[in-house]
Amino acid sequence: MSARKRVGILISGRGSNMASLIEAARAPDYPAEIVVVVSNRPGAPGLARAAEAGIPTRTIDHKGYESREAFERALHMALVDADVELICNAGFMRLLTESFVERWHDRQLNIHPSLLPAFRGLHTHERALQAGVRIAGCTVHFVRTEMDAGPIIAQAAVPVLPGDTPDTLAARILEAEHRLYPHALRLVASGAVRVAGETVIFAKGERPGPALFSPPLPEG
Ligand code: GAR
Repeated sequence: MSARKRVGILISGRGSNMASLIEAARAPDYPAEIVVVVSNRPGAPGLARAAEAGIPTRTIDHKGYESREAFERALHMALVDADVELICNAGFMRLLTESFVERWHDRQLNIHPSLLPAFRGLHTHERALQAGVRIAGCTVHFVRTEMDAGPIIAQAAVPVLPGDTPDTLAARILEAEHRLYPHALRLVASGAVRVAGETVIFAKGERPGPALFSPPLPEG
């Protein structure tokens, strides 16, 4: 088996998606290992979770830098110092400039709690409910300079249920996120997918796997 891909995770907060990636990477046959977690917010709860799991952490506080570029240079160096090959943004709430995004072109993933390209940006669940969609979900995609956009690697569909509030819908989607992100990182790290043009295609013999529904749809 080829070497496991070295992954750095970027967070800004709670880090529940980060935790799902750390957990998945414990499996000996998982094609990626998490080598560093970087937060742009000091005291982000995800930092303590990562440390408990024995993953090295770094805090690079964007407020401590005079410009976006200076912050991103420090971020880039932290990732290079850890020999990172792939980046996973997991609730990382900073927009990145073109220069950073291009340096990590097709090597940086992001998760967003909607079926992209619908409902990019903030207040995603509230806007999905306002639009009256029946199926919501989450997406893992390669990062481009436009927010929450880029070649789609994997998606999970989640039903909207009567009486849902933004919080209940968010919680249902978050469960799907925790299954989807490890699946998507596996696809990328194992070489099962690659970007062609601006879409993701499967290598010969590879299949996308079944769509996810969380919770499962009722029988009959
Ligand atoms: C997740 O729901 C993630 O999809 C979302 O932030 C949350 C982070 O939670 N990301 C975005 O909205 C990106 N535009 P977590 O810190 O527990 O993983």
